[in-house]
Amino acid sequence: MRPGDLRSHRWYGGDELRDFSHRTRTRQLGINPEEHLGKPVIGILNTWSDINPCHMHLRERAEQVKRGVWQAGGFPLEFPVATLSETFQKPTPMLYRNLLAMETEEILRSYPIDGAVLMGGCDKTTPALLMGAISAGLPAIFVPAGPMLRGHWRDEVLGSGTDMWKYWDDKRAGLIGQRELDELERGLARSPGTCMTMGTASTMTAAAEVLGLTLPGASSIPAVDSAHHRMAAASGARIVGMVWEDLRIGTVLDERAYADAVTAVLALGGSTNALIHLVAMAGRGQVPLSLDDFDATARRVPVLANLRPFGEFLMEDFYYAGGLRGLLSRLTDLLHTDRTTVTGKTLADDLAGAGVYRDDVIRRRDDPVAAEGGVAVLRGNLAPGGAVIKHIAAQQDLLRHTGPAVVFDDYADLKRRIDDPALEITEDSVLVLRGSGPQGGPGMPEYGMLPIPERLLAKGVRDMVRISDARMSGTSYGACVLHVAPESHVGGPLALVRDGDPVILDVPGRRLELDVPDAELAARRAAWTPPPPKFERGYGALYSSHITQADVGCDFDFLARAGHNPEPDPR
Ligand code: FES
Ligand code: MG
Repeated sequence: MRPGDLRSHRWYGGDELRDFSHRTRTRQLGINPEEHLGKPVIGILNTWSDINPCHMHLRERAEQVKRGVWQAGGFPLEFPVATLSETFQKPTPMLYRNLLAMETEEILRSYPIDGAVLMGGCDKTTPALLMGAISAGLPAIFVPAGPMLRGHWRDEVLGSGTDMWKYWDDKRAGLIGQRELDELERGLARSPGTCMTMGTASTMTAAAEVLGLTLPGASSIPAVDSAHHRMAAASGARIVGMVWEDLRIGTVLDERAYADAVTAVLALGGSTNALIHLVAMAGRGQVPLSLDDFDATARRVPVLANLRPFGEFLMEDFYYAGGLRGLLSRLTDLLHTDRTTVTGKTLADDLAGAGVYRDDVIRRRDDPVAAEGGVAVLRGNLAPGGAVIKHIAAQQDLLRHTGPAVVFDDYADLKRRIDDPALEITEDSVLVLRGSGPQGGPGMPEYGMLPIPERLLAKGVRDMVRISDARMSGTSYGACVLHVAPESHVGGPLALVRDGDPVILDVPGRRLELDVPDAELAARRAAWTPPPPKFERGYGALYSSHITQADVGCDFDFLARAGHNPEPDPR
């Protein structure tokens, strides 16, 4: 590509009034003509915010990206975009994933941008930025925020999320007191960066790397390591080259890239949220990817990463053990290593020299954490569209289980009654939570790891079969059946379950059934009335009118579809 072919040239490079206007306003920015004319304009989309501890270093890190862009002969412009803080944004940042995706797409479309650097990492920020970038179609590179350092408490190493749930259960069971809780509060999260377990953040940034959208090794670098600064600068430099080469995101993201991302997510024992996000991302590029692809891949991919929530170690250990490149070097026979990544080279080139330095953290193929990948997709009369379970993170004897349902209509109902002594429940019961899907939640909150009743906890029960149309945090664990589709709010069969109904979970057989006669279910359906809409106005109303179900990615229908969307005329 030559300077006159740059997309930004249409804003800056001509003789018309508008070009003159854009140049005068660039002088107003304090930029000389020789600093930007004829150079690729790099939009740096930054999800930094004061409220997001996972991204608190990204304001400064953007400076390192700019350093790389300048050095390579580009013109960097930073765009603050919405932050989706997994911890603070309610009811759930999942409600806003598509909003950030829209913002990303429209910023890239409406401004004179030739290439994009996408800065994020906290859970939904990664798929949101990538979905928007896919729809915009420009050259784009992802700069993952990087995991935080290990947590510490007394002589214990703590993992985000995972150990919070664990010690909260200990507190509920009376095993620890306020003093311990105060100490834990200060030790669980001790540096900038994303959750350092194999939660949704680590899963999705790893997926971005395997898809070929980051520099090799980028996703494993701890947020505060000097290597993270260097990676940011190198990413800034690389995007300039990508613009000149016209290496667009759609060239990188083909069917093989998604197949490899699924393989890697499963070998990592990654978060169940990845099923929703990767399906949505593939949908943006009109690349076929379904839940069944995950199930089929899971049957042949071993889990090699020994990381919490189900394993022992944390992301910092993973980095020192060789990181994602090390793990991928053990899976090359299962990957498409001849495809192109943002480096402009092949995945095989990107993996050259990669190795594993600790077999206990990244296990050998003949000694995996689990012989099969981390998820199973279940179907049956309770989940015609499918449901998901991360069975390696569950108590194994529960994976074939029949028990009576104990039904909660929504999360408020669950909170109100779960510890009620009058609740008829045993460790064999199946906890059912409805009203928590994309529409009903709304936003499919991470309620899927339903709490175990206190009196059962006190008896030593640590896992039970739980079923919901919710999602589960990537740092959670347990025999939790998630993403039941269609959700109860739109009349999915979950809406018809009653207390005491026998529920059959059969993970090896991939079945989820309600053992109630069809005629009885039909009668219940006839008597069912849909709940009132959650929103009458605002973004929520837009969301409710267009959100799709979990099995197809929870995108908005009008964003997922292909169709004409004109380039703006800057003159
Ligand atoms: Fe941001 Fe976990 S809360 S990554
Ligand atoms: Mg999470």
